[in-house]
Amino acid sequence: MTHEHDFADTGFLDTTDQSTAIDRAALDQLEAIAERYPVKRSALMPMLHFVQAIDKRVSPAGVEAIAKILEITEAQVQGVATFYTMYKRRPAGRHHIGVCTTALCAVMGGDLLLEQVEQTLGIAPGETTEDGMFSLEKVECNAACDFAPVMMVNWEFMDNMTPEKAEQLLDDLAKGRDVTSTRGPVLTSWADNERVLAGIPDGKANDGPSAGEPSLEGVKIATAKGWSGIPKGVRS
Ligand code: FES
Repeated sequence: MTHEHDFADTGFLDTTDQSTAIDRAALDQLEAIAERYPVKRSALMPMLHFVQAIDKRVSPAGVEAIAKILEITEAQVQGVATFYTMYKRRPAGRHHIGVCTTALCAVMGGDLLLEQVEQTLGIAPGETTEDGMFSLEKVECNAACDFAPVMMVNWEFMDNMTPEKAEQLLDDLAKGRDVTSTRGPVLTSWADNERVLAGIPDGKANDGPSAGEPSLEGVKIATAKGWSGIPKGVRS
């Protein structure tokens, strides 16, 4: 029996593509990120996000720069970059689309959603459109099951999606119209959000609702019934 997984994009980083846009200013920014942590090495993950903001992927030049600044080996940097699926081996598009097809989203239409996105963009998961506008991946549960099926755009939530809504959303993004995440800001680009993940705020952290109604429903029921998550014996 052959095991099929959703992480086709595994293995080593692509060293055949040596292109980079990392310049002196980017190196200074990487050093500034490292300086924020009492132990420099703790900056590895945000620094990888910053490399992606600049090079749209984890580039060989980015790996080299991080290793040098953190005084670790390139193999150690690559070990982290190839473990987490948020780090990309090939350039992502201006907008990176993730469609959740884990159990609950699948039951609620996630597979149909993915089919629609593949058809509209003309690409399969793991690919980027020729014009560099969109890239696509299948994502595992986003802990947003109460809004299933969900789609991510540049890591922002688009809740309760349908194939029709997805087609409209992709058309709006392709034509440069404003699209607002269901629980976040107006979408900008994947690279912009990679800068935020690197710890460089864009001032939009409080845009959109902090929690949606379905997520708050359980709290309301518990409050009405006087339930508490704290076991009786340990309540003060
Ligand atoms: S199964 Fe899709 S968010 Fe949980």
